[in-house]
Amino acid sequence: MTGSLPRVAILISGTGSNMCSIIDTAQEQSWPLSCVLVLSDRPEAPGLHRATERGIATRTVHYRDYRGRRTDFDSKLLEVLQEMDVDWVVLAGFMRILGRGFVESFPNRILNIHPSLLPKYPGLDTFKRALEAGDTVAGCTVHLVNEAVDAGPVLGQAEVPVLHGDTEDTLRARVLEQEHILYPAMVKRAVCGDFEGR
Ligand code: GRF
Repeated sequence: MTGSLPRVAILISGTGSNMCSIIDTAQEQSWPLSCVLVLSDRPEAPGLHRATERGIATRTVHYRDYRGRRTDFDSKLLEVLQEMDVDWVVLAGFMRILGRGFVESFPNRILNIHPSLLPKYPGLDTFKRALEAGDTVAGCTVHLVNEAVDAGPVLGQAEVPVLHGDTEDTLRARVLEQEHILYPAMVKRAVCGDFEGR
């Protein structure tokens, strides 16, 4: 990476609001990194259009073409990222679990955001679980990705209160607002700073 800007790919499956917040903040603040690719595992992901609007190259590796062949899916992802000479992988609502081979190809260079205060509630339905447990605080976590699901070293967290009468949707919206602040800050720190996965 010496002499050139670190090259970042953002992987999405859906809306891509975190992807947009990262790209927009990086551009507004002229971060020393280059967002070279937005990659989706589904062609209908609305985030693909939002990336194109921002002038970022997009690719789709459709998960349906790789049913029951997870390793082949990972290999294709890897091939696309290597073609683009990607240094860092930012998972932003990417709904696939990446295998060992993929993770080892980017050691301490894959970030993820998860909508809970890990280690609480890894996996799905985090808001439902927080509400059912009667939690008074919820939030989001940015972490490095290793082979275990939602369990890599934590880089940062943001908390929000759980309010009386909250539904999954109201809580999700409150957490998402914090994700859009936390994730760009953590990407900047990891990719542009001296952070090496401690
Ligand atoms: C966010 O809630 C994030 O925490 C989770 O997936 C969602 C992605 O939302 N991993 P968006 O596509 O960034 O809008």
